[in-house]
Amino acid sequence: MKDESIFWDNTAKKYAAKPVPSEENYQEKLKSTQELFSPEMKVLEIGCGTGTTSLIHAPYVKQIIATDFSKEMVAIAKEKAVAQEITNVEFRQESVQEMSFQNEEFDVIMAHSILHLVEDRKTVLEKIYRSLKPGGHFITNTGCIGGALKIFKPLWYIGFSLGKLPYIGFFSKTEFENEVKNCGFKIERNWSPTKVDLFLISKK
Ligand SMILES: C[S@@+](CC[C@H](N)C(=O)[O-])C[C@H]1O[C@@H](n2cnc3c(N)ncnc32)[C@H](O)[C@@H]1O
Repeated sequence: MKDESIFWDNTAKKYAAKPVPSEENYQEKLKSTQELFSPEMKVLEIGCGTGTTSLIHAPYVKQIIATDFSKEMVAIAKEKAVAQEITNVEFRQESVQEMSFQNEEFDVIMAHSILHLVEDRKTVLEKIYRSLKPGGHFITNTGCIGGALKIFKPLWYIGFSLGKLPYIGFFSKTEFENEVKNCGFKIERNWSPTKVDLFLISKK
């Protein structure tokens, strides 16, 4: 697949209409994120999709920059911001590979359901670390399918080779947690809401 953003462009409308898999788990993630916010904070969300999470968090902080490489996802996110009259979230079409923010620019960086889709995950984690202020928080919900869903790897590989499916990293929760720690983060919360999902709150 040459340009993986096309896969996400094609699913954007469906994605926007789909409810979250567990409202209870989603609310818990929102709540534990908002406990870290204060009104002067500058926040980054990468892989923001149709912007739901950033728009919910917007009233609790000064500014949010929310990026995604899918033109269609970002277009829907921008429409939602206008409809909800939210002016402190800036949605940008940008890949995590292009991402280049200043060192120590953000108080909080969020990356939800995206890091398993990124081949150069270590580089992205290092960029996140650099762009956070000392004491800043990195919050991620990441699909760790290397344990529970490893058996599907050959099937995924066929779809990937045919250019029908995006890159998916098959790693376990322990492997991902170690990658985050090896970047320099201190893990403050480690919660497994499902067999696959790992929700981490880490501090720089
Ligand atoms: C599963 S969706 C998650 C969206 C949102 N974070 C959420 O939790 O609902 C994955 C998102 O990551 C984006 N994405 C995937 N690879 C990316 C990359 N390399 N750079 C930027 N965005 C990417 C996709 O366009 C898509 O919107």
